[in-house]
Amino acid sequence: MSLKYKPTVTRRAFVASSLAGVMSTTLPFPGAAEAATQRFSLRAAPGRTRLVPEPHPDTAAWCYNGNVPGPEIRIRQGERLQVEVTNDLAEETTVHWHGIRLPNAMDGVPHLTQVPIAPGDRFVYEFDAVDAGTFWYHPHQRSFEQVGRGLYGPLIIEEANPPRIDRDVTWVLDDWRLTDDASISDDFGNAHDVSHAGRLGNTVTINGRVPETFAVASGKRIRLRLINAANARIFALDFGDHAPRIIALDGQPVTPHEPRDGVVVLGPAMRADVILDCTGKPGTRGQLVDRAYRGNDFRILDFSYADVALREATPDWPIALPANPIAEPDLSSAQRHEVTFTGGMMGMMVEGEMGLEPRGDMMGGGMMGMMHDGRGIWFVNRKAAEGHVLDPFLTLDLGASHILAMTNATAFDHPIHLHGHSFRVISRNGAPTPHREWQDTVLMAPRERVEIAFVADNPGDWMFHCHILEHQAAGMMGVIRVA
Ligand code: C2O
Ligand code: CU
Repeated sequence: MSLKYKPTVTRRAFVASSLAGVMSTTLPFPGAAEAATQRFSLRAAPGRTRLVPEPHPDTAAWCYNGNVPGPEIRIRQGERLQVEVTNDLAEETTVHWHGIRLPNAMDGVPHLTQVPIAPGDRFVYEFDAVDAGTFWYHPHQRSFEQVGRGLYGPLIIEEANPPRIDRDVTWVLDDWRLTDDASISDDFGNAHDVSHAGRLGNTVTINGRVPETFAVASGKRIRLRLINAANARIFALDFGDHAPRIIALDGQPVTPHEPRDGVVVLGPAMRADVILDCTGKPGTRGQLVDRAYRGNDFRILDFSYADVALREATPDWPIALPANPIAEPDLSSAQRHEVTFTGGMMGMMVEGEMGLEPRGDMMGGGMMGMMHDGRGIWFVNRKAAEGHVLDPFLTLDLGASHILAMTNATAFDHPIHLHGHSFRVISRNGAPTPHREWQDTVLMAPRERVEIAFVADNPGDWMFHCHILEHQAAGMMGVIRVA
């Protein structure tokens, strides 16, 4: 199959367009015209969910189909997915299919790719699953509150021939700011969160529950699909004596490797597929510890080993995943574009250190003044996104290879996400990356320079933003046009 962009109208797309709210679709990737269509429905609505074990009360949240997280949508690579979304919230919403390479009109960005779904209304999303991997879905309307109140769910695209394992487990991680009565603190978007590291919470959940123990057996091989759905928390997962091996990042296969220091680091929105061999002795326990924030290590859960081993030795089955059909960027001909992130608390100091001219108008009204002006406090190439003004800050030639040379001239970490494409992370601070991983979200440390490369092969206007949702809401986003 060659990657050629042909507008295709399938019978299914035609039928779907007779449903309310459907936009016509053109398919930028090889059509799976003959493939089966898998249908799901999602209903976004307020509900109650149990995040914290009894005797604590349950929690008023916003749910898909009554649950946090929403249902795991699981289909096979090459199939077509159709999801009817009903909005029973009191405000507009959309659904974005994070990391999926799909036609622009299905990307779920309000005012950019679609009219937001009004309360009481519905919208049908439909696209082909081009890549296998671990993805997720979430609203793109006021995400800092809608995701923060529980609207998200896993989207798993299975390989035709997955590696052999004993168990396939999805863990959607989240971080909540709960009050004493287990309600969600409603200080969304407060000035401190927005200008610092985002909304960090006090309660970590896996699949919508504070976890206790995870039952395992010696010799068992688990494929763990980790998804970070938190607004702002970075996870650095230490599996103790287990030696997890990463086989995919952001859904895309990577040469299997042990993470540095054995710790799996996931910024908001990032995913990792990990092969976890249960190497503990029968009847023992192990711990999963988060080490992301210095001085704030905490135990997430205990592994609890069954008294009987499943097998004596670790299996030697191969673990590498088959590659997805992504075009390889040609670095020798790639067009280069500089992208600089600035703003936030202590930002001007870092800009000065990095030799940038501090931005004049940050002096005047100061940080709070800027927020109240609605001009944002984070900037992509010196521009803060304002409301619905979504003019592209960069236009990329369709079909060409591009390098984005990104500089984080701020005092904070930022997980930078591009829609509609996966990119290779080719260097960090000038040094080539050992795995040249494909990602859709790359975590940048303060003062770090990261180069990413990709073929701009998916036409349309695509969001490019920090996935710390408070930063995104306060200007750290822009639109990249591929045309
Ligand atoms: Cu996960 Cu623009 O989003
Ligand atoms: Cu950020």
